[in-house]
Amino acid sequence: MDSQENNKLEGKTPEAKDKTKDTPQSSIAATQKISQASQPRPAVVEFKDVTKTYNPGRKNSYTAIKDVTFVVEDIPDMGEFITVVGPSGCGKSTVLRLIAGLSPQHPPTNGEVKVFGLPVTGPGSDRGMVFQSYTSFDNRTVLDNVAFGLECRGVKRKERYDLARHMIHRVGLDVDTDQYKYPHELSGGMRQRVAIARTLILKPRIILMDEPFGALDPTTRLHMQDLLVGLWREVEATVFFVTHDITEAVYLGDRCFVMSSAPGTLLRKIEVPRPDRPAAAMQREKDFQDTVYELRDIIENLEEGRD
Ligand SMILES: Nc1ncnc2c1ncn2[C@@H]1O[C@H](COP(=O)(O)OP(=O)(O)OP(=O)(O)O)[C@@H](O)[C@H]1O
Ligand SMILES: [Mg+2]
Repeated sequence: MDSQENNKLEGKTPEAKDKTKDTPQSSIAATQKISQASQPRPAVVEFKDVTKTYNPGRKNSYTAIKDVTFVVEDIPDMGEFITVVGPSGCGKSTVLRLIAGLSPQHPPTNGEVKVFGLPVTGPGSDRGMVFQSYTSFDNRTVLDNVAFGLECRGVKRKERYDLARHMIHRVGLDVDTDQYKYPHELSGGMRQRVAIARTLILKPRIILMDEPFGALDPTTRLHMQDLLVGLWREVEATVFFVTHDITEAVYLGDRCFVMSSAPGTLLRKIEVPRPDRPAAAMQREKDFQDTVYELRDIIENLEEGRD
């Protein structure tokens, strides 16, 4: 399916969306940016006719996704926020883990998965993943969990702790009271803040989030959505965010990928307005709710059309 088939609900194209930063630049930096912009940039992620069959050739062989094709372009100074929705079992996690290069989803059975123009051969530091389940190390404090990736990279203790404390603060935890806590001493929302901090501290250019807020209560979820939007604007990364919540998909996304049930195919790529107000305020507005209903109708029609 190509971009012409996108159903544009509202809003601007990603290319035209406002920048939130207004950083003064020297003329040298500006010249560099112009020359970078004029060079062709490889796509951030590209799927070409990607099919994944688990246990091929066996009795329990199962095709989870079929002929999935999409491109996420590299837009200078901003990352695109892609939300992925679809019925349970349609292959959303399979798509994310193929981008991450994690087995057994990687390698695909057919087709090609490319990141920054190169075929994915396994996990890499350009990609970071946040899962629904809380994935911190139980025997490490918040500080050591957040600093873990830097420790693996050989960053010296003082530097990694300084960076980790900064990150703990950025995700809205209290450095003084929370840094020495263990995961079992944290609420679900706090644990997901730690998981986000652990991923972002490594500055991945692609952030893969698999239902990260699925287990949170509605109020905490809204706070986490605001937090994520703020952090994403800062890091300018490309985000793939799987959710079952259409409201969340519309609020967070620049584009929403709608997948069909098994075998999962990519039915639509729908542009949605970028979040420009706090979640609780924006999600209450009529225009926003109309967009949610519109997307819901599209998904329902697509599902009915397949029966
Ligand atoms: N390692 C595996 N071996 C065999 N089958 C698998 C494996 N992983 C996933 N599957 C199957 O592939 C299909 C897609 O799974 P996937 O986890 O990608 O779906 P999903 O859309 O993320 O579902 P959910 O919304 O419930 O998380 C499912 O039918 C699942 O049983
Ligand atoms: Mg899943």
